[in-house]
Amino acid sequence: MNRQLHPLEINPKTGEPFLRLLSHPNIILTPPRLDDAPQLMAILNDERVYHWLSSPPVPYTQEHADWWLNHIKPPSDKFLAELEEARDDPTLKIVDECPVRYIREVKEDGTEVFLGDIWIDLAGQPWELEGSGKTSQSKPLRDPNDPDIWTVGDYLAPSHHGQGIMSDAFKTVLQQWAIPRMGVRRMAVTALDGNKGSVRVFEKLGFKFRETIQDALDVRGTKRGVHVLDWRLEE
Ligand SMILES: CC(C)(COP(=O)(O)OP(=O)(O)OC[C@H]1O[C@@H](n2cnc3c(N)ncnc32)[C@H](O)[C@@H]1OP(=O)(O)O)[C@@H](O)C(=O)NCCC(=O)NCCS
Repeated sequence: MNRQLHPLEINPKTGEPFLRLLSHPNIILTPPRLDDAPQLMAILNDERVYHWLSSPPVPYTQEHADWWLNHIKPPSDKFLAELEEARDDPTLKIVDECPVRYIREVKEDGTEVFLGDIWIDLAGQPWELEGSGKTSQSKPLRDPNDPDIWTVGDYLAPSHHGQGIMSDAFKTVLQQWAIPRMGVRRMAVTALDGNKGSVRVFEKLGFKFRETIQDALDVRGTKRGVHVLDWRLEE
């Protein structure tokens, strides 16, 4: 087992790394797979999901899904190869991304069902950076006196909403990878105005509500407000 993947586990059949959720042991996070397109389309064409997301196109076609998977899979593979190359390095590398993001339910017969996505990235929206003295962030600098500001995006299949899955997924990624392996110390997150479930997920993880900004984003031709919440690691 490559220590640079710690605390991920490895699927003995496929060799794929995965992270098991802390409170839902039947749910795991894995890298993307090129055959995820049909499931991506089913979830991202559901209004209960896309209404609250600003970036995916609607309708979300097979072409969109294939383009997206071919866009994210090669860098994901490259990142895993870099961790593999560093396997003999005795100190755990601090890295800029999380190698697992796609949420999957593992059924009793071992089959896996795609449920959603969670990704952590450097914050870029002006309101996320507001008050920090930063105007943009092109790469993490990890200055302990002026921590990088990270953000999160996520969505889950409506069939599985309200079961505590995203709260658990975000807590697991934060505690198991983002804090120890990416050096995340500070976050600023955005939810579209009225997204009470998403705000509640953030608050359950200790995020503090900062403000609601009216008409902040143009989402598919309509101005929408945003809720902004902040989080800092308590040392
Ligand atoms: C937001 C989302 C990720 C939450 O995932 P989830 O697994 O259902 O979330 P959890 O079950 O962990 O927690 C949801 C919390 O919000 C609460 N909640 C959900 N809908 C709510 C509503 N309309 N009003 C008030 N609270 C609500 C739930 O009661 C729960 O809180 P509790 O544990 O205190 O009862 C999911 O609903 C989703 O994918 N939505 C569409 C896409 C999206 O909004 N993504 C986030 C973009 S910022």
